[in-house]
Amino acid sequence: MANAIEASRLDVGYGGRQAAVKVLSGLDLSVEAGSFLSILGPSGCGKSTLLRVVADLLDPLGGTIRVLGDTPHAVRSRRDVGFVFQDSTLLPWRTVRDNVRLPLGVGQGSLTRKIEDRSDELLELMGLAGFGERLPHQLSGGQRQRVAIARALLGQPKLLLMDEPFGALDEITRDRLNDELLNLWRRTGTTILFVTHSIAEAAYLGERVVVLAANPGRLIRDLDLRPLKQDGNRCTREDPAIVAAMAELRTALEQAS
Ligand SMILES: Nc1ncnc2c1ncn2[C@@H]1O[C@H](COP(=O)(O)OP(=O)(O)O)[C@@H](O)[C@H]1O
Ligand SMILES: [Mg+2]
Repeated sequence: MANAIEASRLDVGYGGRQAAVKVLSGLDLSVEAGSFLSILGPSGCGKSTLLRVVADLLDPLGGTIRVLGDTPHAVRSRRDVGFVFQDSTLLPWRTVRDNVRLPLGVGQGSLTRKIEDRSDELLELMGLAGFGERLPHQLSGGQRQRVAIARALLGQPKLLLMDEPFGALDEITRDRLNDELLNLWRRTGTTILFVTHSIAEAAYLGERVVVLAANPGRLIRDLDLRPLKQDGNRCTREDPAIVAAMAELRTALEQAS
């Protein structure tokens, strides 16, 4: 299968080419289309920076990156990429449905693909049928994140970038949303890049987990979990093989910090 991401010798920093410090240095990363990749790493190692490059929010200083076989810019203008961040910003004065519909009204001109209003279908998919007329403050934190996911899915993106999307939620809610996300991924075949601080979440969700180290950001571990999981990336959180993989990831993270 083709690769959704193909990064080679990627150098990334802030402040243009004069940047004194590289955040990512010589990063090679290929991600198979349709796969679920978890990204772990200590705070400040460049996980969000990597997603920014993929999303065309930041240009690399060197190296090459192809996203869905194209430049990040082309992919962004076709709206083939969706994002969900930790503190998803819903507009407090807009209803839940209108928050999901936000991308419909954004950026005419530079964008080359019109998207269809599937807000009701997506609210239902995210377990929020009947919540469309509510305002964000009338929802729980977990429900608000589901609205953010629905919004990210509105354009049926081929690639979904998630940056610690469930980091602010309690553990029970997080576990539930993890299962919903996996179901969604199985149904849609979207490639997912999922950044998290949680070793358990990374191992439960990912078909593959990569660990980045800091200063400069680089890949120090690349673990394929597919041999440990059932078809459809299924496992239990208590599975001894998964628990062993988590221990391995913990060791890598300790070395990375
Ligand atoms: N806009 C910015 N300008 C300058 N430096 C930045 C900017 N954003 C992030 N950095 C720096 O880049 C490094 C990586 O940041 P980031 O990608 O946010 O890390 P992570 O998401 O892994 O915690 C950090 O040292 C951070 O201070
Ligand atoms: Mg970050």
